[in-house]
Amino acid sequence: MKTIERAGGIIKNGGLVAFPTETVYGLGGDATNAGASQRIYQAKGRPSDNPLIVHIADIESLEAIAAEVPREARLLAERFWPGPLTLILRKNDKIPYETTGGMDTVAVRMPADPVARALIQASTGYIAAPSANTSGRPSPTEASHVKEDLWGRIDLILDGGEACIGLESTIVDLTEDVPMILRPGYITLETLQEVLGRVRLDPGLIAADSEEKPKAPGMKYRHYAPRADLKVVEGESRAVVAEINRRTALLTADGARVGILATDETKALYGKGTVISIGARTDEKAIARHLYGSLREFDALGMDVIFSEGFSDAGIGQAIMNRLLKAAGHQILEV
Ligand code: TXA
Ligand code: MG
Repeated sequence: MKTIERAGGIIKNGGLVAFPTETVYGLGGDATNAGASQRIYQAKGRPSDNPLIVHIADIESLEAIAAEVPREARLLAERFWPGPLTLILRKNDKIPYETTGGMDTVAVRMPADPVARALIQASTGYIAAPSANTSGRPSPTEASHVKEDLWGRIDLILDGGEACIGLESTIVDLTEDVPMILRPGYITLETLQEVLGRVRLDPGLIAADSEEKPKAPGMKYRHYAPRADLKVVEGESRAVVAEINRRTALLTADGARVGILATDETKALYGKGTVISIGARTDEKAIARHLYGSLREFDALGMDVIFSEGFSDAGIGQAIMNRLLKAAGHQILEV
């Protein structure tokens, strides 16, 4: 039997299959099966009030699980699906509350990755899939990351190579008067505004200490974190390098293992510490693609402390900085 058919059969029978998508690897189970969703929460160690995204392969499947499909949803689906965009809509009874974390809304995405599409088609047509990491860890961008976190807890891992985007999908809530971004991603605010006109960013995302809680339950948890203590150093490039060098010299003299998340432009300027370049500053797509893998690499190297340079927060940078600052528990050093 072909692997995809076997994988689809596992999902139909309530089992769990990790699979590649263009954003990050997902941990898939049948979204219409309450027991399968419960098993996903268990395997990840994820709080069960944090809803799952339902992955579909055709537009009819959207009609089948949403109570209504507003005009904005059709416009966005036409422009960005299949692709790295998740829409929040009101749900009907087809998707159980176990999948939506008790919410009356459902998150839906049509991924572009061919393996993901084939798997959805070979299963029930509705795959609930969070990122395939242990809750709190950096999301997996390679099959080996999934294996590291979930081996022995799930039925199968499909290896599709390195994820080409490397950050999770943009989430847009269409149940608000003005469409609202609940999680920034590869599809930026500016691009969404081109299609819809008015779009705003969830005010709960903007400041760590904001009074307002983020609307997506998952965005309130510490997330994406490496085991080492990660701090982001922000400021003018030369001052950032000098401050990281100063702190690294002090810490290594004390016997600490220090990692430095640098860029191609700065990597040669560091003295002590273990330096990983995330890519060129001029290539924000490369930075997005390498962020989680670099954090995992530092863990594999057994670092105690990591200093990361800050990045521009324009365009995809908004998503990069959102994930990096969450991974750092919002520890920022301004120089
Ligand atoms: O790119 C992605 O979206 C990846 C791949 C696998 O598709 N999936 C992913 O899922 O990132 P996960 O579970 O790691 O993140 C889902 C986020 C969480 O922050 C969750 O709280 C939010 O989506 N979410 C899901 N359903 C929601 C709903 N009905 N209302 C508000 N937020 C929701
Ligand atoms: Mg996740």
